[in-house]
Amino acid sequence: MNDTNVPNHNVLVFEESAELFASAAKRVIEIAGAAVEARGRFLFVLAGGETPKPLYRKLAQQDAGTSIPWQETHVFWGDERVVPPDDPQSNFGMAAQDLLHAVPLPRANVHRIPVELGATAAARAYARELQTMAAKGLAWPRFDLVLLGLGRDGHTASLFPGSTHPSRSAQATLAVTGSYDQRPTSRVTLTPPVFNSARNIFFLVTGQEKADILSRVFDRDESAVRFPARRINPSRGHVTWFVDRSAASKLEDQPLNN
Ligand code: 6PG
Repeated sequence: MNDTNVPNHNVLVFEESAELFASAAKRVIEIAGAAVEARGRFLFVLAGGETPKPLYRKLAQQDAGTSIPWQETHVFWGDERVVPPDDPQSNFGMAAQDLLHAVPLPRANVHRIPVELGATAAARAYARELQTMAAKGLAWPRFDLVLLGLGRDGHTASLFPGSTHPSRSAQATLAVTGSYDQRPTSRVTLTPPVFNSARNIFFLVTGQEKADILSRVFDRDESAVRFPARRINPSRGHVTWFVDRSAASKLEDQPLNN
């Protein structure tokens, strides 16, 4: 494993993806335990897409005593596609199948984005749901850990390059349209200010097909700022990139310029 430190961002490069997911799972469990010890609950935002599946399966397998304290855990989603929960494209459905069905997480602690309401109403409803979990006077909770991925076009969650997103406003969620790999174009996403108030963010990026976009996102060139991943910069949190050797193959000498 190679470990490159850049301000606020820690980039971990792993030879093998098995090693990457084992390390990420270990770190998730540590953060969960510390959150419960400090604040009595662990607020965990899950990512969609294919990449996090091995992590979810690993977290589902942990033995008692070395796992997430599920009773005190609340799960959320960074984004959702507007499809039924049992559709293979559903981010909730994927996490339910690979993780949630296998763990003793109270049903009331699953905070799904209610996309059956339609994107706009779901975004509003989810913003209200986030507020119920927030400290008094705030619009959303400060999440303990957010998982994110990186699309080959540079999108993260459902924040697509070239689209405008609130950076400081109090808007917690957005209904968006974005097309990617023929996946549904109607989506709901959390906004950059919500991600940027988190305590920890993990980007999971694997495979040769991500090598180009990863090097572009990390490019010193200011134009890289057009990629939403570059706008994920928690002011009081840490970002860790879990990257495998293939995805990192074009990264040489290109630390994040934030
Ligand atoms: C989604 C995601 C999205 C994802 C990237 C990477 O719902 O599509 O949340 O941001 O993380 O598209 O997807 P893969 O892991 O499938 O490459």
